[in-house]
Amino acid sequence: MTDQYAVIGNPVAHSQSPRIQAEFARQTGHDLIYDALLAPLDGFGDVVRAFRKRGGKGLNVTLPFKQEAWRLADRHEGSALHARAVNTLKFQAGTAIGYNTDGVGLLRDLRDNLQCAVRGKRVLLMGAGGASYGVMEPLLREKPHSLVVANRTLEKAVEMVGHFEKFESFPIEGIAARAYSSLTGSRFELLINATSAGLTGGMPPLPESVFAPGALAYDMVYGIDTPFLRYARAHGARGVDGIGMLVEQAAESFFIWRGVRPQSGPVIALLRKA
Ligand code: ATR
Repeated sequence: MTDQYAVIGNPVAHSQSPRIQAEFARQTGHDLIYDALLAPLDGFGDVVRAFRKRGGKGLNVTLPFKQEAWRLADRHEGSALHARAVNTLKFQAGTAIGYNTDGVGLLRDLRDNLQCAVRGKRVLLMGAGGASYGVMEPLLREKPHSLVVANRTLEKAVEMVGHFEKFESFPIEGIAARAYSSLTGSRFELLINATSAGLTGGMPPLPESVFAPGALAYDMVYGIDTPFLRYARAHGARGVDGIGMLVEQAAESFFIWRGVRPQSGPVIALLRKA
């Protein structure tokens, strides 16, 4: 039987994952089916169970179910454990294994596609929701000079930084939670927007002075030239959206399921053209 995979979310119709995974399957000659599953907000577990019963091998999980997927997994691999969120499930011998490939996706996009090393950089991460939790540990492992987390609701940034400090002492100069208003006078070489502000045409209230010369401004939102990216460019930074991260996290999921690493470059180019 052809192996079955799917992305599960609510909403899910807009998801690019079926298209990306179909490209990877074509590229590698793997015979698989990849669907989109809409789960009711209170019915995630039921839809997953039915999918497993049909012999489903793996799922990508998108909003708003990443935390629920974390709880559903029998065990966690890699950064999924501390992220408290899972975007990839692999079903194997009656076990659901949870992974989070968002951090790997971001770092691969930065390193391989954008030639931006995190090591030694002053990094600003905006947002303290699921998207930030997913990338915190992989970012810290790259040993930036420092990592500042800023969030509109400061307590959430404080809680998130505390959560990661609890697990490991990361050998970097500083990891701190700050309010946007306190960033005046600070400069960053890498600024990552993990807030959902761009989806509604907004942006975090960043002081103009935060962009170091030659800074890279990265917005995890994709397919939109967000106000954050426009602001960053107006202040001399290079602005990049999250299409590369989207494709790289999908490539990592494909590797987890199939044991083969597809080529992400042609798929990124394809999505950029669309
Ligand atoms: P996700 O799982 O995508 O991260 P989330 O958990 O709802 O979604 O988190 C959204 C993040 O975007 C939060 O950090 C939120 O800030 P608050 O914690 O203060 O709500 C941030 N966010 C959303 N809209 C924003 C805006 N207009 N300006 C600044 N931050 C915003």
